[in-house]
Amino acid sequence: MTSDSPVFEDLLHEEREFPPSKDFAAQANVRDGSIYERAEADPEGYWEDRAKELDWFTPWKTVMNWEPPHVKWFEGGTLNVSHNCLDRHLDGPRRNKAAFIWEGEDGDVRTVTYLQLHREVCRFANALKDLGISKGDRVAIYLPMMIEATVAMLACARIGAIHSIVFAGFSPDSLSDRINDSECKLLITADGGYRRGQVVALKDAADKALESTHSIEHVVVVKRPVGEPFPCTMQEGRDVWYHDVIRDASPECPAEPMDAEDVLFILYTSGTTGKPKGIVHTTGGYSVVAQTTMQYVFDVHEEDVYWCTADIGWITGHTYVVYGPLQTGATSVIYEGAPNWPGNDRFWELVAKHRVTLFYTAPTAIRAFMKWGDDLPAKHDLSSLRLLGSVGEPINPEAWMWYHRHIGSERCPIVDTWWQTETGGIMITGLPGVTTMKPGCAGPPMPGIAAELVDEKGAVVPHGAGLLAILRPWPSMLRTIWGDDERYVETYFSRFGPEIYVAGDGAKRDKAGDFMVLGRIDDVLNVSGHRIGTMEVESALVDHPAVAESAVVGKTHEVKGQAIAAFVTLVGDREMTPELNDELKAHVAEKIGAIARPDAILYAADLPKTRSGKIMRRLLRDIAEGRALGDTTTLADPAVVDSLRGEYEEKEG
Ligand code: WTA
Repeated sequence: MTSDSPVFEDLLHEEREFPPSKDFAAQANVRDGSIYERAEADPEGYWEDRAKELDWFTPWKTVMNWEPPHVKWFEGGTLNVSHNCLDRHLDGPRRNKAAFIWEGEDGDVRTVTYLQLHREVCRFANALKDLGISKGDRVAIYLPMMIEATVAMLACARIGAIHSIVFAGFSPDSLSDRINDSECKLLITADGGYRRGQVVALKDAADKALESTHSIEHVVVVKRPVGEPFPCTMQEGRDVWYHDVIRDASPECPAEPMDAEDVLFILYTSGTTGKPKGIVHTTGGYSVVAQTTMQYVFDVHEEDVYWCTADIGWITGHTYVVYGPLQTGATSVIYEGAPNWPGNDRFWELVAKHRVTLFYTAPTAIRAFMKWGDDLPAKHDLSSLRLLGSVGEPINPEAWMWYHRHIGSERCPIVDTWWQTETGGIMITGLPGVTTMKPGCAGPPMPGIAAELVDEKGAVVPHGAGLLAILRPWPSMLRTIWGDDERYVETYFSRFGPEIYVAGDGAKRDKAGDFMVLGRIDDVLNVSGHRIGTMEVESALVDHPAVAESAVVGKTHEVKGQAIAAFVTLVGDREMTPELNDELKAHVAEKIGAIARPDAILYAADLPKTRSGKIMRRLLRDIAEGRALGDTTTLADPAVVDSLRGEYEEKEG
């Protein structure tokens, strides 16, 4: 444990408790707390039962095969995720039920039923085949929040192509890096979209990315379905319009039987090096956890209207906008734009308009709403809501209480869900019909999940503070890092050996066994719920000709959770000016994406280093947070700290 971790200083004594209401518990999908003991007594049996909730073409032969640190689940079984999301709903009352209600930033609404979605997915799956895509090929998806993004995912899954979604807010460089890493053959993008009233020229960004990729054979371009098309250039022979390729395609396409362990998707996430990791998820185990968590955590019922506000570019969008909701036959809302456009109450307007019952968002959004005022949710009828969720970062108790009061009318249970891109689905949270919720506390591990707190040596700590680890494989666990299995072993299974998955988070656990997850303990920041590696930002900064060296740290931020503070030294006699400062921020945004733009760039004549030349980030964090400095005795040159502090205090006033 890094003893300097600021999160551990913030010990919290939470005594407020919110047991499930009788009404909620009486209708909940899980009402009996004995599920925990039953799952613990026979985890494989538990998961096997859960797997029976899905349609399998052929049953599995073995439930789990664990050769630490590699695991296989449901070997011998075949299934198809797109079949489970669509086809199996078509023979009953869900056939004409809305799968998605999409709302554009400008208020356009489109609804697709399960049958309509099935036809569109089949059409596009056939079109992909015509474009030369077959099982195992990688397809990059760079799309805004539109129904076609879900069609693209499901069409890939249907024919066994592996999708790799790149968040549409990422830069051309980030897109080309990801395309190159997994050698994608095809890219699906759009002419553009709206974000806070501004047009995002996505195809132009994609074209730029394609200048430095070699594997892409075709680009499918979706025209934003309503309003004026955005101007963009189409390259003859390479680029095709989505509406053209599906026009004559057959609306029938058999779902490819996939082995449980066939790869479903790759999703890149930041790590502690400059290069993002391609997290690999497979078909069977991932689907089982998506299904189970939708039923158990979100308590989804047939008549619910569910809205997860995440973008499909993140894991939450994969599991809880697309695969989980569709597998359980839910109706979901998809919203194109920003929470504060055109007004700061846009989310509440949408909840009221679509009568949303289950609402899942991030603490950063909740904190922004708190700032914008209680009167905004009060203006709207939020009485349809019956459950709230939180994900992506620790939710502070004040934000939890605000969410509970002003959004949930002190009536809705709140599920604070801890999980990661790597875990595929929710790992730690309360079950809303069973668990007593506590503000700021994620709760117990899900049934069947062996999450524990461990100390520096890997020994289990029943309660107290420690590292979050998972001591037994679970079905939706990442299987490897694309093209770099060594990094997989090194990142997650080297600290305490191949049996113990180390999540990279610090946590506390109370006597009831509930977890309070405190945050990352590695060089990864969590900015507005998004993981950003400090190394990525540092590489982007030194890529600028004026920068000689840089060190990036996180700084507590009221709304974003963490903000990015960058310390730089400049080359030769370059001097820091306000213009250069702005230019450096813009450079990072251009290299990575707007989410990585530093809040503050601090100029230093030198960075504090140990005598062996290692940058002392701990000191930089102390400076950025304006805290008393820790131990400086190992510094090679103690004077640099004073000059940095002076610079910081001047900037912060
Ligand atoms: C953090 C998002 C506290 C954590 C699903 C984790 C959380 C990282 C919570 C994963 C939570 C996520 N409470 N921290 N409820 N949920 N985190 O891969 O640091 O984008 O390691 O997955 O977010 O981020 P990722």
